[in-house]
Amino acid sequence: MCGIVGFTARQPMSVRVLIDGLKALEYRGYDSCGIALKQKDGLLVQKVKGKVSGLEEIIDPSITGICGIAHTRWATHGEPSVINAHPHQMEHVTLVHNGIIENSEELKQELQSKGYVFHSQTDTEVACAVIDDLSKAYTDKIDILHKAGFILKGSYAFAIMFDDEPNTIYAVRKDSPLILGISDNASYLASDASAFLSETSLIMDLEENEVARLYNGEIEIYDINCALIHRSAYKSTLSLSDIQKDGYDTFLLKEIHEEPAVIKKTIHHYLQQSLLDLEQTMPDLSSYNRFVFIGCGSAMHAGMIGCRLAGKYARILCSAELASEFRYSDPILSADTLCIFVSQSGETADTLAAMRLCKDKGIDTLAVVNVLGSSLAKEAKFTLYTQAGKEISVATTKAYTSQVCVLALLVLKKAMQENLLSIEQQNIMENQLKTLPLLIRDFMSNTNVERFAKHIENAEHAFFIGRGLDYALSLEGSLKLKEVSYLQSEAYAAGELKHGTIALIEKGTPVIALITDPMLKDKTLSNIKEVQARGACVLLMIREDLYTPSIEADETILLPALSDIMQAVASVVPYQLMAYYVAKKRGCSIDQPRNLAKSVTVE
Ligand code: AGP
Ligand code: GLU
Repeated sequence: MCGIVGFTARQPMSVRVLIDGLKALEYRGYDSCGIALKQKDGLLVQKVKGKVSGLEEIIDPSITGICGIAHTRWATHGEPSVINAHPHQMEHVTLVHNGIIENSEELKQELQSKGYVFHSQTDTEVACAVIDDLSKAYTDKIDILHKAGFILKGSYAFAIMFDDEPNTIYAVRKDSPLILGISDNASYLASDASAFLSETSLIMDLEENEVARLYNGEIEIYDINCALIHRSAYKSTLSLSDIQKDGYDTFLLKEIHEEPAVIKKTIHHYLQQSLLDLEQTMPDLSSYNRFVFIGCGSAMHAGMIGCRLAGKYARILCSAELASEFRYSDPILSADTLCIFVSQSGETADTLAAMRLCKDKGIDTLAVVNVLGSSLAKEAKFTLYTQAGKEISVATTKAYTSQVCVLALLVLKKAMQENLLSIEQQNIMENQLKTLPLLIRDFMSNTNVERFAKHIENAEHAFFIGRGLDYALSLEGSLKLKEVSYLQSEAYAAGELKHGTIALIEKGTPVIALITDPMLKDKTLSNIKEVQARGACVLLMIREDLYTPSIEADETILLPALSDIMQAVASVVPYQLMAYYVAKKRGCSIDQPRNLAKSVTVE
């Protein structure tokens, strides 16, 4: 998603503050960028299509200023271009925007009838004109921005400069993230704190529909009634090492290798001695007879795993839903339903909207999120944080495995509350939870996943097959490969392949098969033979205790022999590494895949 960064300072600061801020936000995904920096003789505005490095080429790094805003755009209205890049200006107003103004077309027509002329295709330029138009009728900027909130429909995080207050930035947000920062000399705003972390780690929240005024290094916050409110700053948990590669060639590879430590930290966050700790560290689930797991993309795949585990261990009615579908499905929910929202960023528009729908229906909500203080975290009845730390690469890895960990523990808590987990089973689970990080680290150290990549790096498409949990894992494996290497792939329930898609299998078609469930092993082996009979190149990942040399495959990777709950966490790692190797061989932009955004805060 787009990135916003801005500052006001007592003493002039380098334009690098904005440039470096945008660089720190590149991971969010974008297609163009721009800055506006207050200069003695006016406002310097520069915009480029493409990367922040393009801005660096045209901006003199020696220039300074005491007020400026900057933006990386992820286009929703209008193609990536210089004219559509932000900042947008309209007469007396300059602003940058994250989000979508849903009524921009009707507003545009009204404004054009008032004489406004538009140059871009964006909804943002319309918002700029709305605010400019209000500034002709009203003088108080806080009041103007609150009035704009009643006119603009949709989502927005704005950083706004007015000509008549040249050293001031106003910030307002609705359904899009903005965080504030403060140092001795300056005040900052950004989509996330990594944009100004090198300047300060003291941050301040800006809540929905509040307006912030940044001036001369200070911050004022006004509530929806335009009343000045006090808000304390606090130290961000982010560290500089979180946003550096630490010797890895990509954040993706770094974050995959962080997974054993993340899994250990996540488990330990909820379970110090035994599963009985979950009594205190997780909410009481006894009143719920149905779980609905809701998310998007990889988060939804994690929800699918939570759903299967809940059905098996807690014997509870459950389903896994795509947030973008769920929110428009007029879902049937009852008081004993717990809706569980899974999200790394905690800002995904569809997931947030789905949660608000459940809250409006009086349904209890639980968020499993990675970003502290994110919208989902703030608005859910219960929040369980994953402990993945800052995840920079657009393709999620460590946050996804951390989500599966938290969901597995949630399921175990519910199973114990239903007296469905024997003491013996609890002991087995506790031992496996303690050894899981080490097993994953050993697997990474001793398994050559790169040889899998050789079989598919030049393929036109690939298929992932599995049954039960292995199907949910196959979906995530397929998404990773697609989003990181742009190689078309599909995940199929292994038993479903023969109902049509097997028509696509021909000599050399790569089929990545996963077998971790002893009950389903033979069935999946039959499906493997079916595709092999048609010439497929089978890359098999199988639990080591289920493997026998008689099983034929073009390549085989052995996985640790773990219970299915632990397998659900561990088995995704080879998929993630495979996607990395294929993307590397194909020369892809691994951390910032084309068209993708780290947090999809628009619908
Ligand atoms: C992650 O690899 C994907 N890029 C994407 O599907 C992501 O999982 C999805 O957009 C949901 O994001 P969230 O977890 O921040 O809600
Ligand atoms: N909707 C705006 C545009 O298309 C902002 C997109 C974004 O969040 O970057 O320019």
